[in-house]
Amino acid sequence: MIDLLTEQAFSFVANPDAVVPQKYGHDQEAILNAQGLLAARKEISSWPGYQPTPLVALPGLARAADVNSVLYKDEGQRFGLGSFKPLGGAYAVLRTIAKEVHRLTGKHITAEDLRTGDYHDIVDTITVCAATDGNHGRSVAWGARMFGCSCVIYINEAVTASREKAIAAYGAEVRRVPGSFDDAVRAASLTSDSQGWHVVPDTAAGGNIEASRNVMQGYAVLADEAIKQLPFATPPSHLFVQAGVGGLAAAVVGQFWQAFGTDRPKAVIVEPHSAGCWFESFKAGEPVVVSGELDSLMAGLACGELSPLCWPILKPGAFAAMTISDTAAIDTMRLLADGKSGDQPIVGGESGVAGLAGFLLASQDRKTRAQLGLYSDSRILVIGSEGNTDPQAYREIVGRSGDEVRAISIEESCA
Ligand SMILES: Cc1ncc(COP(=O)(O)O)c(C=O)c1O
Repeated sequence: MIDLLTEQAFSFVANPDAVVPQKYGHDQEAILNAQGLLAARKEISSWPGYQPTPLVALPGLARAADVNSVLYKDEGQRFGLGSFKPLGGAYAVLRTIAKEVHRLTGKHITAEDLRTGDYHDIVDTITVCAATDGNHGRSVAWGARMFGCSCVIYINEAVTASREKAIAAYGAEVRRVPGSFDDAVRAASLTSDSQGWHVVPDTAAGGNIEASRNVMQGYAVLADEAIKQLPFATPPSHLFVQAGVGGLAAAVVGQFWQAFGTDRPKAVIVEPHSAGCWFESFKAGEPVVVSGELDSLMAGLACGELSPLCWPILKPGAFAAMTISDTAAIDTMRLLADGKSGDQPIVGGESGVAGLAGFLLASQDRKTRAQLGLYSDSRILVIGSEGNTDPQAYREIVGRSGDEVRAISIEESCA
């Protein structure tokens, strides 16, 4: 076991309500289920450009961290948007439009029906709206453009100009408001109510259960892909997954729970120190809102309020939570880009590497290894939830562009 990160400090809390022997039950089924996955998979896999993202083995890192294997689900190339997010936001846009078409015509439609333009008189009247720290807004804007409706995206003051530009590139109107992500959520909701727009949030905190459930059901497609890609169909022993509002974590935990029951991996939720709403909620045994400066380089994870829809899955389903520093995320981005320990170089963005950073920190700490039951035969799965979604920030942190890192990776795999 060697120290892979310069930063060593992190916080860890075991989830006292974790119920490993419990079956995936009614409370969880009501949120994410096999039928929902089937519908999401059928729809999303029909979109142009769909292909499963790679599950990359990192044997060098596994050796250095003294575990059996580390698998990295690399979402960096998903639909060319750079993160897992189009699975959720764009899918929820489609479901929103389909519901409106059904309300007005009684017809059940798919994306294919919209592509033929048959319903453009209805779709033209629809505006979808979302608040975002970057990636969710980009995915909603991308979906709105693909399906032909209008789109307004709210961002807060901390969202970088490059992320704003990436959203606007899909034709969305972008509105910047003072305050945090949670303030942008409130602004999106208030304006949509007054304008008759359809809010497509990635959190149920504002009360929009249906859209945020669709978002999560779309995310579950990536977990389903990962399950099919597992070597020898053997479940991982541990899953490290980062959380903002918790939609990604709940979707992945829920899907592994449905697939493997009590043999599911021990799931560890990883968040920035400044925005540990899951960490604090596990500590308190009930949802807790974290306030104050939520700022983090891990922009996608800078949320102070968890999504209530994720609580019934992660309260019994997650084993522990950790918070980490921005420095740990930076170290991990560089370590992945350098292909340290002899692994294939990977482009991982600030929020995207947080799960891996959490695992590396836990693996370096004797006490946490014992708490998590991390041994040399442990099989680790991490979700690499974004690539260089902010190309400028990525270059500043890593010293090279995403394309340069990918070029080395391709050269090595051809050598
Ligand atoms: C790259 C990335 N990873 C993880 C997350 C966290 O997802 P959730 O808010 O569903 O927990 C986000 C959220 O925006 C993100 O952009």
